[in-house]
Amino acid sequence: MTTETIERAAAWLAAARCVVASTGAGMSAESGVPTFRDEAGLWKNFNVDDYATPQAFARDPQKVWAWYRWRRSNLANVQPHAGHAVIADWVRGHAGFHLITQNVDGLHERAGVPSAIELHGRLDVARCTACPARVKGLSDLGEDPRCTQCGARLRPGVVWFGESLPADALQRAFELARSCELMMVIGTSGTVQPAASLATVAKNAGARLIEINPGHTPISNFADLHFQSGCRDTLVAIDEACRRHAPAMGR
Ligand code: OAD
Repeated sequence: MTTETIERAAAWLAAARCVVASTGAGMSAESGVPTFRDEAGLWKNFNVDDYATPQAFARDPQKVWAWYRWRRSNLANVQPHAGHAVIADWVRGHAGFHLITQNVDGLHERAGVPSAIELHGRLDVARCTACPARVKGLSDLGEDPRCTQCGARLRPGVVWFGESLPADALQRAFELARSCELMMVIGTSGTVQPAASLATVAKNAGARLIEINPGHTPISNFADLHFQSGCRDTLVAIDEACRRHAPAMGR
């Protein structure tokens, strides 16, 4: 991260009418939420097939719920960081700034984003396996919770491997990828489809791409700028540069 690249990112951000931030688990790493594929990531220690497929839930719902109860209880102890606050300011300050996230932790909303396009659902939602009922919040629902409306089993409100993403969110996300002038890809390994294709679609449609990720990803190969650094300080630095350039725009 150099002054020159920060200034360049801020200039692109200030000039673009439609900007998309697309975030993954690395966005929340500095809040203490584990990522999936890094050294201490969840998929290094837990088998996807045991916890994150419809088959796993059908086989052993109590085992799956125990894991989600643990993840839900961890969420109660973490807070959004300054990078989340920067994105929330950008969303609130500019009608042309949109947020798409693969994250299920709700930290963007807690930082003040009312309208994130959430591709993979939410940990703090449980939904009924039989009716449209949903239960919002991080309270402990028990070992094998049931729907108060119809009595059927509740399941975690996240998207599992092998399941479709929410259709509305997916459609809106790809519309935005096709129409944005700048996409900021933050903290994702860029390996899980269809979210990973958002960057390719944006690039092919002519958008500039800024990646913020301390590691190298498939997206790094075609990003116009790659900040190889943590997102919290990088976002704060870009925001400060934006304010120097265009204080009236609020970003
Ligand atoms: P991954 O765990 O695959 O990747 C996290 C990325 O964040 C890596 O590329 C890290 O280098 C980067 N990273 C780590 N710390 C960072 C920091 N401080 N700032 C910026 N970047 C940082 O997570 P995702 O790509 O989000 O699916 O994973 C995609 C999906 O796979 C998840 O949504 C989840 C998982 O299975 C579902 O839950 C459905």
